[in-house]
Amino acid sequence: MLADRVKYMEESATLAAAAKARELAAAGRDIISLTLGEPDFTTPEAITKAAKESIDSGKASFYTPPSGLPALKEAVQDYMSQYYGYPVQTSQVLVTTGAKMALAAFFLSVLNQGDQVLLPTPYWVSYVEQVILAQGQAVFVEGKEERNFKIEVRQLEELWNERVKVLLLNNPSNPTGNLYTEEELEAIANWAIQRKVLILADDIYGRLVYNQAEFVSIASLSPEIRKQTVVITGVSKTYAMTGWRIGFAVGPQEIIQAMGKLTSQLTSNPATVAQYAAIAALKGGQEEAEKMRLAFEERLNTIYPLLNQVPGFHVTKSQGAFYLFPNVEEAMKLKGFSKVSDFTNDLLETVGVALVSGDAFGSPNHVRLSYATDLDTLKEAITRLEQYMNV
Ligand SMILES: Cc1ncc(COP(=O)(O)O)c(C=O)c1O
Repeated sequence: MLADRVKYMEESATLAAAAKARELAAAGRDIISLTLGEPDFTTPEAITKAAKESIDSGKASFYTPPSGLPALKEAVQDYMSQYYGYPVQTSQVLVTTGAKMALAAFFLSVLNQGDQVLLPTPYWVSYVEQVILAQGQAVFVEGKEERNFKIEVRQLEELWNERVKVLLLNNPSNPTGNLYTEEELEAIANWAIQRKVLILADDIYGRLVYNQAEFVSIASLSPEIRKQTVVITGVSKTYAMTGWRIGFAVGPQEIIQAMGKLTSQLTSNPATVAQYAAIAALKGGQEEAEKMRLAFEERLNTIYPLLNQVPGFHVTKSQGAFYLFPNVEEAMKLKGFSKVSDFTNDLLETVGVALVSGDAFGSPNHVRLSYATDLDTLKEAITRLEQYMNV
């Protein structure tokens, strides 16, 4: 009865891991879930207030232009000037139902059957499924652990052929939290310009960087690279607004307009009330966003050394997003597991700590731990990991 495109599609592994943890918790088990990629904070009050006003005044009752409210697109323009350092036209901005929809619209708008997307590993779970849905082919570029999982031009050149259309760069990365330097990005941009490869810059975590690390988007490097780069970002992670479902795509007009045609047929506009909330976030949410960023930074700095002391866990300190991605190869061996999903299942069953197994991200020896949870809970989780490993 079903079409192949859904029959062979994988469910989101992160959502599945979170669902399993919730199920056990509902059955009365004491579970700490460090699976989900969303801030534990609620949306700041000034933002929810703007949303309520849009409901009370009746403004939220209606459709908006499919590409987004003009005032929101203008706020995105200001955002680009402020954080990316270059001006854009409103015709280069598309508002979408979460950044996820912007990514899907991009792939569906630029890929023909068999076109290749270079995808650095480890990668966020949805990219592969979205590329396949758009009839493209994901080609993996191995992010080596000794290079903080960052790819090099040499590897891109080795994989390049006429069918390579897109290079995806998720910076900072989910699941590793790594961050590319300006120099590294320059090299990649020069290669992409030379090879005429589009860049999909998933910058959703761009504002969440820590300990004086500086986020530079590849799009900010030069007008040349901007001509072939689509930036994806949004309010979900920075302003604790995952539930509102607002993302943005910013890039060359031709691609953005095509993506807009597509989303106008698939979703019409993103929810009007959420767009009003997003305007308030972009215009006045910086102080609250900074408080949350500082909280994530404190958590990272507290739990990183603790996690590294857990027997068999080896982790590099991440610079952005809110994930740590420890190598657990040794821990798996100590516990007698060869598959990381068996290891995470046992961990969940034995000490009630839920992590996402790295195979979902293309890394069979790692687990992802989200530190978007309060410090006490995080410390308790690490104590349990230690107990588990010491038995
Ligand atoms: C790397 C990455 N890109 C995009 C998204 C999607 O963001 P949104 O919730 O705005 O759809 C996520 C969410 O987990 C993500 O981790």
